Amino acid sequence: MTPSPATAAVRVRRAELSDLDDLVALEQATFDSDRVSRAQFRRHLDSDSALVLVASANRRRFLGTALVFFRKGSRSARLYSIASLPEARGKGVGTALIEAAEAAARQRRCQALRLEVRTDNESAIRLYERLGYHRVGAIEKGFYEDGTDAFRFLKALA
Ligand SMILES: CC(C)(COP(=O)(O)OP(=O)(O)OC[C@H]1O[C@@H](n2cnc3c(N)ncnc32)[C@H](O)[C@@H]1OP(=O)(O)O)[C@@H](O)C(=O)NCCC(=O)NCCS
Repeated sequence: MTPSPATAAVRVRRAELSDLDDLVALEQATFDSDRVSRAQFRRHLDSDSALVLVASANRRRFLGTALVFFRKGSRSARLYSIASLPEARGKGVGTALIEAAEAAARQRRCQALRLEVRTDNESAIRLYERLGYHRVGAIEKGFYEDGTDAFRFLKALA
């Protein structure tokens, strides 16, 4: 897929074992609850039902990550988590990760990519809406471990 101009400098690839330290450090720096542990990341790296993506650009080795889940027999994939380094935000890293997640989901013949997001996460919600995601269903009350509510979003992958 041709990257959009804003994401042309960002490369996205599948994560490897050597990325584990960066993945865990970003997860701990970014999220206060519902964290993916080192052991879980390690399992996801080897799993057919998970895809861990890593974004990098120029000489910066690691700028962000996204975690996508697939389910046997399901035509929809789930963007479980996405994060970019705080100093790298607003430069297209999140966009590139979502575009790569969509490409991977299409490759696996998924017809939709869905996700949940904290109802107070305005920057993430803006990004999802800009990329064509729309809200589905009712608010999920107390969806997260810390009791925060979630919106569900979905994008049909043509
Ligand atoms: C949500 C998150 C992943 C977005 O990542 P990001 O790398 O900042 O994403 P982008 O840079 O692609 O997009 C952010 C904004 O920068 C803008 N942008 C993208 N490329 C740009 C560029 N080259 N120049 C200027 N602005 C740019 C986008 O238009 C976007 O604007 P918007 O807020 O109006 O949508 C990031 O803020 C983050 O890690 N947040 C903490 C974790 C989190 O909340 N994750 C989501 C829930 S799991």
